[in-house]
Amino acid sequence: MCGIIGYIGKKNSIPIIIEGLKNLEYRGYDSSGIAYLKDNKVSIVKEEGKISKLESILPKGISNIAIGHTRWATHGAPNKINAHPHKVGKITLVHNGIIENYQELKKFLMEKGYTFKSDTDTEIVAGIIDYYYALDEDIHVTLSHLKDIVKGSYALAILVDGIDKIYAVKYKSPLIIGITKDGYMLASDIPAILSETNKYIILEDNDICEISDTLNIFNNYKKIKREELEYLDSYDSALKNGYAHYMLKEINEEPFLVDRLVGLLDKEKTINLKKYSNIEIVACGSAYHAGLVGKYLIEKYLNIKTDVYIASEYRYSKMFYNKKTLFISVSQSGETADTIASLNLAKEHGIHTLGIVNTVKSTIARLSDEVLYINAGIECAVATTKAYSLQCLMFAILVNKCLKKKYNLNNISKHMESLLTFDYKKIANKLYKKEDIFFIGRQIDYALTMEASLKIKEISYIHSECYAAGELKHGTISLIEKDTPVISIITDNNILDKTISNLKEVKARGAYVLIVSSINLDKYDDLYDDVIYIDKINDLVEPILAILPLQLLAYNVALLRGCDIDKPRNLAKSVTVE
Ligand code: M6R
Repeated sequence: MCGIIGYIGKKNSIPIIIEGLKNLEYRGYDSSGIAYLKDNKVSIVKEEGKISKLESILPKGISNIAIGHTRWATHGAPNKINAHPHKVGKITLVHNGIIENYQELKKFLMEKGYTFKSDTDTEIVAGIIDYYYALDEDIHVTLSHLKDIVKGSYALAILVDGIDKIYAVKYKSPLIIGITKDGYMLASDIPAILSETNKYIILEDNDICEISDTLNIFNNYKKIKREELEYLDSYDSALKNGYAHYMLKEINEEPFLVDRLVGLLDKEKTINLKKYSNIEIVACGSAYHAGLVGKYLIEKYLNIKTDVYIASEYRYSKMFYNKKTLFISVSQSGETADTIASLNLAKEHGIHTLGIVNTVKSTIARLSDEVLYINAGIECAVATTKAYSLQCLMFAILVNKCLKKKYNLNNISKHMESLLTFDYKKIANKLYKKEDIFFIGRQIDYALTMEASLKIKEISYIHSECYAAGELKHGTISLIEKDTPVISIITDNNILDKTISNLKEVKARGAYVLIVSSINLDKYDDLYDDVIYIDKINDLVEPILAILPLQLLAYNVALLRGCDIDKPRNLAKSVTVE
């Protein structure tokens, strides 16, 4: 969470920082700030709320060195005082991460006479660096032993009074350096640098950077070189490209991306799941839901026992594994703290690990024994859509490979086009004023409705719950009354009758029923109020088709409610804290 950025070079840094912050806003957006160096003086401007508010109060003027921050509050309320940058003594910095021992460090500093204005852990790090810098008289030395003093995770961009440079350190929070034609940038993620460059370096834990007109990277006091990488998609592809929202753009990219991923992996040698006696899939949020889809496909077609865990639970659970266990982590960002911790745990136990990841060279990609990229490109909307669909597709591809490509996964896009143009507004109009929406499904359709339910609640703020269809009558059905919306997915013919019976139970209590189905339901037309049909193809492909209408429905409901679709309240794209 939180996005940090810096620029040092020949251009005016202020517009570059603002542009970069806007492209990082998906990481947090409750306040933002910028610190710039002008006439040997550091000035700080910060504001509560969106970057546009900060932009409107920035003074005109030129500065060639600046750092900036967009915040997702962890310590202290989202207000101007707690917004970054923080300045203590000679140190001004922005921070992404969490300092676990900040209370202890605060006490130590207060005993030394320091006072603090904010409630943040970040201000304490600024204090700690300032304190030791005064003793060490060498910022490089101070930053090198920061790891021995500060516990937690951090990516820091630092200005030191009297020095025309930017310093950066990172531990367990992502940080890249962008190499521009006329200078350098640093940022939490690639979109922030793309207006200036597509060349970048990924920093490793405990790297220390000193950036002026040259870039020096040190690790453990040794000067080192890190590989220069190139981001190959266009800047436009990372931006909205004319769509009203990133979410809408990203959903519309799905048909192209789905076909592209099938093509990319067609000849590629991928992991043979059949080598394993059992599989553990670990992830959070939507990635967990994709893992559930994977479980149903793997168990049904490959007969391998597969368990799916929420990463924040897995990391504290008792582990059952053997030498033939495969651990799969699924993550769009590749930076989710709980998923990383679970992966590390699996590695400690010597379990073979596979990462299904979107962000190239992210922490999970680098830590996993094997990695498969879903190649979704940058996903900016906080609510995931294309990445989720491609995660499901990745499981379908892996299963199909084990089945010696029994099923045709080519040209899935042609089955998606009509789903993109369906009139969702009509149904959204029936839903957007509701207070509760229920989702039900069985087996793989249950996994899919979990994701559909999350989409609705996270972007439209309508309370929504998802149940295994047979479970409703064990309590929750008491909440169903006239016009309560119940949405279901039906793709599995074998259990069609069962789900239909459950829908009859809610219809009998007056529910409004919407079904997404790949099976003709004409003979049940008194059972539903609306139906959205997807093509009947095969179990491997249908999850990707079934979720698309419900992603677009959630989008349209949120639109009618006037919600901030790409930046839902309280959320951040990349959850890098526990
Ligand atoms: O980057 P990850 O895939 O590891 O993120 C996992 C979840 O935080 C993420 O899927 C989250 O649930 C989204 N808000 C869903 O739209």
